Amino acid sequence: MEELVALCKRRGFIFQSSEIYGGIQGLYDYGPLGVELKNNLKNSWWKSIVYNRDDVEGLDAAILTHPSVLKYSGHEQTFTDPLVDCKSCGLRFREDQIPEQCKGEELTEPREFNLMFETNIGPVVDDSSKAYLRPETAQQIYINFKNVLDTTSRSLPFGIAQIGKSFRNEITPRNFIFRVREFEQMELEYFVLPGEDEAWHKKWIEDRVVWWQEQGIPEDKLKLITVTGDDLAHYSKSTVDIMYTFPHGIEELEGIANRTDFDLGSHTKHQNNLNISAKVEDNNDSNTRLAIQNEDKEWIVPYVIEPSAGVDRGVLAIINEAYTVEKLEDDKSRIVLKFKKHLAPIKAAVIPLKRNNEDLVRLAHTIKNSLQKYQKGRVVVENTGNIGKSYRKHDEIGTPICITVDFDSLNKNCVTVRDRDSMSQETVDVSNIETYFNNFYSEVDV
Ligand code: GAP
Repeated sequence: MEELVALCKRRGFIFQSSEIYGGIQGLYDYGPLGVELKNNLKNSWWKSIVYNRDDVEGLDAAILTHPSVLKYSGHEQTFTDPLVDCKSCGLRFREDQIPEQCKGEELTEPREFNLMFETNIGPVVDDSSKAYLRPETAQQIYINFKNVLDTTSRSLPFGIAQIGKSFRNEITPRNFIFRVREFEQMELEYFVLPGEDEAWHKKWIEDRVVWWQEQGIPEDKLKLITVTGDDLAHYSKSTVDIMYTFPHGIEELEGIANRTDFDLGSHTKHQNNLNISAKVEDNNDSNTRLAIQNEDKEWIVPYVIEPSAGVDRGVLAIINEAYTVEKLEDDKSRIVLKFKKHLAPIKAAVIPLKRNNEDLVRLAHTIKNSLQKYQKGRVVVENTGNIGKSYRKHDEIGTPICITVDFDSLNKNCVTVRDRDSMSQETVDVSNIETYFNNFYSEVDV
């Protein structure tokens, strides 16, 4: 983990947030390469969940949330962790995460600590202006259920997908970006007919495991566990977690829950102020019911299958898998991030042999622009004047190809293309470099 953290800082993937003022625990900033990697991961999810299917719509809803939403979702009551204090050193931590120095010491009785961040909207700070920073993106999907349904005319099964920030005041954030207080989630709420929920749950678990493999996580590093007992969220009938072997141990990467009709039912019931069960009754004529009519005009509260993945945990897993130290000749070694092509933060680096040679630099920029226009991701000109150093840097940040512009490029119209993984080099005519690049990235639409 230390090596990954050091590389992330050294190369500009991830920085401690507010570092110049001492930093804030559990908050991180994504630098120039981190933002590219993160966007690539989110785009890959969006493509597989929204674009490559015909039954999912997208959403990007507000983060600040009406307190009633989180009251009736059950979060005000139950979104808590048990907090204890060590009577000898005064440290505060989660009951299930006792630090080494407090083991065996006398602890206070656990008390429930709500993880939601509260704020106020507008200039008056009182109960009437209270709002929460959302602790999951899912609730905004439920409260927009009718809006999406009315504007898209969907029938079951269908889903609503959202990627965005969530906030949790974790008692003990730790393990770099694994457990943080501000993070991103990629969540799909997939609405199905009650009775078909278990089959869909199974299907989504299988599909999500395949998607993580497509991001470069080998099957043997992933494990499925069924969540039981107190770990099962208040809304869930059954949850299966996709666990990954992080550098600090096997932990949750994504959870796939069967949330039944808990949320839609609860919001319908409470916003209408009706004392009805989660099932919306047929004669309840409200425009705001979060339900759908079947062909016989009967109202059904769909069940929800929810694959919910953490972007930051995904980034950590992907960097961890990509990180490779390779032995070279003469006792030398190199660090390479062997990202899948579609995730690589930089798609190609164009490197002029000499930094002060105007013709070489101009040609490098011309090539860069000709490749950038295909929008496969970021292409850069690396004008350090030191080819060896540039190759080392681009190995370390996972750039799949480096294109070197030298005097042959000016005289014979050709460049050298170096492959990150094999380190092999080939000569490509400048007039063919766009085709080469496009072929190289042809399968990038994973
Ligand atoms: N809507 C369901 C939900 O939020 P969750 O298991 O609490 O379920 C889903 O969270 C995913 O969000 C987790 O699998 C994890 O990847 C990510 N996640 C949750 N808390 C996190 C935290 N404090 N830091 C980073 N990622 C977190």
